[in-house]
Amino acid sequence: MSDLEKEINRRRTFAIISHPDAGKTTLTEKFLLYGGAINLAGSVKGKATARHAVSDWMEIEKERGISVTSSVLQFEYDGYCINILDTPGHQDFSEDTYRTLMAADSAVMVIDGSKGVEAQTRKLFKVCVMRKIPIFTFINKLDRDAMDTFDLLDDIEKELGIATCPINWPIGSGKEFKGVYDRDSRSVICYSDTEKGTKEGIATVIPVSDDKLLRDTIGDAAADKLFEEIELLDGAGAEFDLDVVRAGELTPVCFGSALTNFGVEIFLRHFLNMATTPLPRMADCGLIDPVKEDFSAFVFKIQANMNKAHRDRVAFMRICSGKYDANEEVRHVQGGKVMRLSQPQQIMADERKILSEAYAGDIIGVFDPGIFSIGDTLCAPKSNFRYEGIPTFAPEHFARVRQMDTMKRKQFVKGVQQIAQEGAIQIFQELHSGLEEIIVGVVGVLQFDVLKYRLENEYNVEIKLENLPYEHIRWVENKDEVDMEKLTGTSDMKKVVDMKGNPLLLFVNPWSVGMTQDRNPGLKLSEFSRN
Ligand code: G4P
Repeated sequence: MSDLEKEINRRRTFAIISHPDAGKTTLTEKFLLYGGAINLAGSVKGKATARHAVSDWMEIEKERGISVTSSVLQFEYDGYCINILDTPGHQDFSEDTYRTLMAADSAVMVIDGSKGVEAQTRKLFKVCVMRKIPIFTFINKLDRDAMDTFDLLDDIEKELGIATCPINWPIGSGKEFKGVYDRDSRSVICYSDTEKGTKEGIATVIPVSDDKLLRDTIGDAAADKLFEEIELLDGAGAEFDLDVVRAGELTPVCFGSALTNFGVEIFLRHFLNMATTPLPRMADCGLIDPVKEDFSAFVFKIQANMNKAHRDRVAFMRICSGKYDANEEVRHVQGGKVMRLSQPQQIMADERKILSEAYAGDIIGVFDPGIFSIGDTLCAPKSNFRYEGIPTFAPEHFARVRQMDTMKRKQFVKGVQQIAQEGAIQIFQELHSGLEEIIVGVVGVLQFDVLKYRLENEYNVEIKLENLPYEHIRWVENKDEVDMEKLTGTSDMKKVVDMKGNPLLLFVNPWSVGMTQDRNPGLKLSEFSRN
């Protein structure tokens, strides 16, 4: 195996998804702790500061000049080189959160054991399913009273429509949490609450065949319940099949407690064993092999004003094949230019490190003088292909935007278009109307504030936003077969076009979507746009 192949094959690139507060940050911190990237969990992103950043978002972002952060972390563990992509949540949930998933090869889904599947997980999960990427589930907070284990698995299966395969099984929860039963080794790993910020201690492991020791340790009631559950589980659960996991149709499930450091390392080990190496990606010339092909990457995120002093824009790209060498030139396919990437960096939380090389699976950020767009391909100068575009995700909030001073029309149009190009907002026009009045759609409401603030500060344009009641958007997939003028829907429906001229429909409720579909046989509607 060549060195290049070795480097690529030891990479695992995944996104962490969860509903806010399920424990994503805590789990990430513990992962980093095992990798030795930090000495004390919590030091990556002081929890107190993180909280502060959420509640006082506008204040802090104002000081820095808007930047909705989402980070990429890289660490080494047991010979693996791991890239974690954080998916921002809370109010700063945006289209970027979705796009981040386009750059990952698998996803870790963190679920709060007392809550089961929650709204934000559901949304992000949909994107994982669309991409058919493997999903690994960590059910967290077992040190608190959790829902019944079978109910939790049932919830995942019903809510998300994916089969589950428990890797281990919790014994009680909350005050009665005794540990987990590892199905593979048929033994119980006893719960011990290690000090926060230290690695897992040496766990007591008891084979279930040692009935006496097990009963002495976890008590008769817990042991009886466990035996009953093991029987049920072995009889009923889905068979484990790695191919089905990798196809994204079966999720392995582990239980634990990120806060008390229990079950995290076991999960990480299982995960690394099962997760795929950097996957081939589809381009217009076919699948691109990560090892055989020379350097290639695609841009999945553009962040403006990362650093106020420089008013810079950083384009984040996922390397899909080969090795990136800072001394070599690359082709920016959409721009039609061969060039050297400017200041390639690895962005670690708040830190930036200049990179000289990186491999397929890695994420790099490069300084962007305004030439990159989301979905752009970069490749070796001798190649010339384009990766499949990144879909446009359905915004869920809409507002009509008006400029206060009509004299500033040019700046207004320029500003709105540029911000849309960065992918922070989507803009629509009513059928047959100009750009004086546009409709803006966003995935997270915070983006409205971002838009207003940036237009005022960067383009010197004041705007007024008027919220619109639409919540559901559908692109017309078979636009060539449909006469938009004649299309009849419900009275609350609005016909608009996006920036690329694709027709789409806005609806207030899901009922109207169904009704319009019924009234127009043959109409194909989609929640994503791939154009
Ligand atoms: P998020 O990134 O998914 O939003 O969740 P985060 O890790 O920030 O965790 C949210 C809260 O849940 C934090 O408590 C955290 O300490 C707690 N938590 C995470 N994992 C566990 C666990 O396994 N067990 C228990 N009992 N709690 C857990 P907080 O009070 O909001 O913050 P802090 O003051 O503890 O830092």
